Amino acid sequence: MRLSRFFLPILKENPKEAEIVSHRLMLRAGMIRQEAAGIYAWLPLGFRVLKKIEQIVREEQDRSGALELLMPTLQLADLWRESGRYDAYGPEMLRIADRHKRELLYGPTNEEMITEIFRAYVKSYKNLPLNLYHIQWKFRDEQRPRFGVMRGREFLMKDAYSFDLNEAAARVAYNKMFVAYLRTFARMGLKAIPMRAETGPIGGDLSHEFIVLAETGESGVFINRDVLDLPVPGEDVDYNSDLTPIIKQWTSVYAATEDVHDAARFEQEVPADKRVNTRGIEVGQIFYFGTKYSEPMKAMVAGPDGVDVPIHGGSYGVGVSRLLGAIIEACHDDAGIKWPEAVAPFRVAILNLKQGDAAVDGACEKLYAELTAKGVDVLYDDTDQRAGAKFAAADLIGIPWQIMIGPKGLADGKIELKRRADGSRENLSPADVVARLVG
Ligand SMILES: Nc1ncnc2c1ncn2[C@@H]1O[C@H](COP(=O)(O)OP(=O)(O)O)[C@@H](O)[C@H]1O
Ligand SMILES: [Mg+2]
Repeated sequence: MRLSRFFLPILKENPKEAEIVSHRLMLRAGMIRQEAAGIYAWLPLGFRVLKKIEQIVREEQDRSGALELLMPTLQLADLWRESGRYDAYGPEMLRIADRHKRELLYGPTNEEMITEIFRAYVKSYKNLPLNLYHIQWKFRDEQRPRFGVMRGREFLMKDAYSFDLNEAAARVAYNKMFVAYLRTFARMGLKAIPMRAETGPIGGDLSHEFIVLAETGESGVFINRDVLDLPVPGEDVDYNSDLTPIIKQWTSVYAATEDVHDAARFEQEVPADKRVNTRGIEVGQIFYFGTKYSEPMKAMVAGPDGVDVPIHGGSYGVGVSRLLGAIIEACHDDAGIKWPEAVAPFRVAILNLKQGDAAVDGACEKLYAELTAKGVDVLYDDTDQRAGAKFAAADLIGIPWQIMIGPKGLADGKIELKRRADGSRENLSPADVVARLVG
């Protein structure tokens, strides 16, 4: 992509409305634009990252055996009356009427709809286990939308729903999602710690929140420092094997949100020098809720003995759009964002330090063509900005690798390769730069 053809409305000033660094940087880097309180347009740079994050979430859901579908954003109020949640959900739900005065709502979550789909088709335990997910926009009329995409009103969520014959089988499904979440967040360069959590309006008695430690987070948390060093399962993890050893390992080290924190247990179990009380950002939450929806909504399957029983369910959310904020909170410095490679909007930036100089232009064009042909995502800064402004923009938008090409270096056959993560720089020949970035 040539920057001269791209749409990257970088802001020079710090936006006053942004209270935390990720919101500030997303606005400054031209990633999002607020259209109403808690409602954002995704500009090209932000949209590229959103898609990358979504794809990692999708790959790990698929790997765990979950199946993707897509449900609509609008739902019938009557469906929610079946579970009793239409009235219980309160003012957070956006209620809409169509031209026939039929009551609709913009879905804040999809337990009712997925249960309706399930019960229409599945009648026997032989079709279980089943885990269906989608990645779809949600609306919650939050009392206090804030921090940009972190607490929006419209936000993108991955939500999965598992269906099993009994509690034991449902726990197997829960464990698969637990492991898939460990892998998902680790692939994005995040340390997200599973913590015992309250279940809230989803219901049920077993739940974990996956939380990224950050001072700006909305949740207070208590952890044993050791939890930060636990190993994340590799991509060869066998989802059909017994996952309980992994779950045991992660849940035996103390980690809890303040809502369910047990001070006595914390002090008894965790040595004083390992106790951490800090804040964190909830990037995902998993729930086992048994028959909470299947009983009122009559989602029944025949068991091996031919008797109909309500299925045992769970639901599993990931805050896809919130993750952009969480990753930036974890990966930035004073100059801007430092995207982990897996989610970066472009992997490489080429900075032409003397636009209009025939030799420099030629070297930039050649490298741009070569890297692009080899499948590297390149943003080529071919604008007529001064070098200083190009450095600042590349740092701000956080491209992991920056290649600086100017007349001085070129005279010696060298260009400069800078790594955004640690600021390290090397002077290399163009061929060596290509070799470094490809393969
Ligand atoms: N208002 C919001 N803005 C952005 N992301 C949200 C919002 N509410 C929830 N999420 C994300 O969706 C995930 C699943 O939501 P859920 O746990 O049902 O919501 P909540 O934690 O608000 O009860 C959360 O872990 C969080 O990452
Ligand atoms: Mg939650």
